[in-house]
Amino acid sequence: MNRYQGVIFDLDGVLCFTDQYHYQAWKAVADQLGVYFDQTINNRLRGVSRMDSLEIILERSDRTFTTEEKEAIAAQKNDLYRQLLHNMSPADLSDEVKSTLQVLRAAGLKLAIGSSSKNTRFILERLGLGDFFDAISDGTNITRSKPDPQVFTMAAEFLGLAPEKCLVVEDARAGIEAADAGGFDSAGLGEAADFARYPMKSFGELKDICME
Ligand code: BG6
Ligand code: MG
Repeated sequence: MNRYQGVIFDLDGVLCFTDQYHYQAWKAVADQLGVYFDQTINNRLRGVSRMDSLEIILERSDRTFTTEEKEAIAAQKNDLYRQLLHNMSPADLSDEVKSTLQVLRAAGLKLAIGSSSKNTRFILERLGLGDFFDAISDGTNITRSKPDPQVFTMAAEFLGLAPEKCLVVEDARAGIEAADAGGFDSAGLGEAADFARYPMKSFGELKDICME
């Protein structure tokens, strides 16, 4: 028997690892602006939207930027980031993630994405998952970022399921807070394990969590 009818996956840090590409692209932009940026600051950007990420980076700047300047900086970062994403291929999808997704689907669960990223569809295509999910809710259909639950609430709506019938899988604390706020149970990897209903050490544990 299944404990849930649907699973909503965060993308970055759950199905794939884009942290280093985000880091390289933000680092190039920060260097050009003369703003200090390091891996510790990069860790604060997990699950945070592109514009909110830029605000965090600019905390270290001694000048202020207009909205137009910020939009230009974010666009430049995204161009660099998308160039780096071309390095991704189906080989970046681990066997564990691939086989777990297949088991969950075979058990009749509906599978969706709930990601802040506006590059979600591009990344899924790079991973060979372009047509795999039953629904995609991402940075292109939301007006409020995690910890607001909107991205997950819309994913559940797209699946036609109530939040309590869905499990959210996250690697960021803001993502678990979003799941809680929306009335979803959550499973957490990495730093999110400390805050989730089901703390996980590895992705494959989802099989036991979702199926009794
Ligand atoms: C999240 C990442 O999934 O997407 C964040 O964890 C990122 O680091 C955010 O800032 C927005 O991504 P994008 O691709 O729209 O710039
Ligand atoms: Mg994430």
